[in-house]
Order: sequence, then structure tokens, then C-alpha cells
Amino acid sequence: MKGIVLAGGHGTRLRPLTHAVSKQLLPVYNKPMVYYPLSVLMLADIRDVLLIVKPGQLHLFKALLGDGRHLGMHIEYAEQPEARGIGDAFRIGADYIGDDEVALVLGDNIFHGPSFSTLLMQHSSSVDGCVLFGYWVKDPERYGVGEVDAEGMLLDIVEKPLHPRSNLAITGLYFYDNEVVDIAQRLSPSDRGELEITEINRAYVKRGKARLVDLGRGFAWLDTGTHDSLLQAGHYVQMLEERQGVRIASLEEIAFRMHFIDAEACYELGVEFGASEYGEYLRSIATRESQ
Ligand code: DAU
Repeated sequence: MKGIVLAGGHGTRLRPLTHAVSKQLLPVYNKPMVYYPLSVLMLADIRDVLLIVKPGQLHLFKALLGDGRHLGMHIEYAEQPEARGIGDAFRIGADYIGDDEVALVLGDNIFHGPSFSTLLMQHSSSVDGCVLFGYWVKDPERYGVGEVDAEGMLLDIVEKPLHPRSNLAITGLYFYDNEVVDIAQRLSPSDRGELEITEINRAYVKRGKARLVDLGRGFAWLDTGTHDSLLQAGHYVQMLEERQGVRIASLEEIAFRMHFIDAEACYELGVEFGASEYGEYLRSIATRESQ
């Protein structure tokens, strides 16, 4: 399975923070935002990732993540010339995806919860149709909202409904079989001029091939769309990291734990981070786990 991180868009609601720099490069406590969604793909055991960014920002993302080799990954880049909708990711990424299955994660979505990697791997191995991840929220009208049957198959999805029929938001993480490329090619822009991800998902619902995995109430799916929610997400990460002494979405640590790199390489990355706490953390886990 290939992975795509969609990190374009204008970040309008976060201006002036996003005037010169992409939203997905803003800090969420001690890491750039894009670390969090990228970590999700890595936890699903995906090593091949296409990062789609808005024009003018490519050099910044490349300076941050390079070709991914240091993480045992292959990261490629593409630009989205205009914010033409989330579904555009599959047009831009069509050649990159080729004949493979694909996971898409939105570059501003933060997920954190128990046994997440196991859950992701369970659902990423051979997808027939699509697998979406649902999360119970108190304000479903802000999201794509799903209705499911007793077996977890989606019966309908509505984008930002005025009168939501459930509280189940569809999060920004999507697993698809290869048909998504054709579906996205055939899609017409919506009234607001976007290739809507919800329309792609509805095409799978019509085929009876859209499964919903409920992340459950012990899970955190955090919003970063406003100044307040961005700050709250930072506080969440800070509080858990401080309490537990572990890092959330440390790409280098995940690369090590997923066996993309070995302990020695992890230690070396820690050395490159110098005297920072982050570097010390990487050196300590590499040393501890290799004993
Ligand atoms: O976060 C989950 C929600 O994401 C889903 O529940 C909705 O069904 C889905 O439509 C989407 O809703 P948003 O209102 O959050 O979409 P937004 O337009 O804000 O785009 C989400 C991210 O994707 C944003 O950080 C920027 C990026 N993006 C968006 C568009 C439209 C792009 O990179 N390119 C684009 O063309």
C-alpha cells in the first residue's frame, strides 16, 4: 500500500500564522504538524509516501523530511497548484499510486490512541473497497458524517450536514483499493468547485464496499483548524509526553520500532539532533532497546 499526505490548502482560518508558511509546518507543541499524520502512515507499515503540498512550500517540506531515507522510507513530493479539493490527491497521485492500494491522510489530522498500529495494519492489508475511520464528536455538522449498519458497513455519508443523522464524524484517514484512481478521474467538482472526498466515499457506499472502523471513545482525534484547537492539540501532546516520558509521533522512534531502521541508525539520528531533549530521547531509546 502506498501513502499520501495531503498538505496543501490555504490555511485561511489560521492567518496570519499561515501567511508565509503552510499550516502543516506549524508546531504542535514540539514537532511540526505534518509529523503527526505521517506517523499514522508509518504505523500502518507504509514506507512509500507522496507528500502533496501547496506551491512555494516544497523546499520547506523537503528541508524537513528529505527523501525519507534516514527513516527507512521513500518520500516523494508533488504540488497541488490550487486547492481543488481533497479528491484531487488521487489525480495528482495517479501515476504514483500505479496499481497499488492507497492510504490518504490529511496533513492536519492528529490521531492518538491505544493499539493504533495494530488496528491500522489489520485494516490496511488487502482493502476491498474503502475503509474509513469514524469518531464520535459533539459537533458533527463540521465534518463528513456517516451512518452505519450493525456490521459497520456505511449506509450513507453526508458532508457537513445542517441536521446530522449521527454524531459519527469521518476522520481524515482513508484506505482505498486501486479503484479510487478511476473514481477520482470521473468525479466532477461540487458547487463549491472542489473534488469532494465525500463523493468518492459515497461511490464506495453505493457499491456496498465502504467499511467504517469506529476509533472509540478512548481515542483522541484532534482538530487543528483554529488557533484555539491548535493550542489545545499542543497542550494534549505536551501533557501526555510530560506525564509518560514518551514522545507522540516521533518519526525516528516509529521508524525504529517498525523496523524501518535499526538501533544504530536511530542512535545516529539522535546524535544529529544534538543536545536537544529530542536527540537525547532518541539516543536513550536506541540504547535501551538494543540491550
Ligand atoms: O478532517 C476530517 C474532515 O476533512 C472530514 O470529516 C470531511 O469529510 C472532509 O471534507 C474534510 O473536511 P474539512 O472541512 O476539514 O476540509 P478542508 O477543506 O479544511 O481540508 C482539510 C485539509 O486538507 C486541510 O488542512 C488542507 C488540505 N487540503 C484541502 C483541500 C480542499 C488540501 O491540501 N488541498 C485541498 O484542495
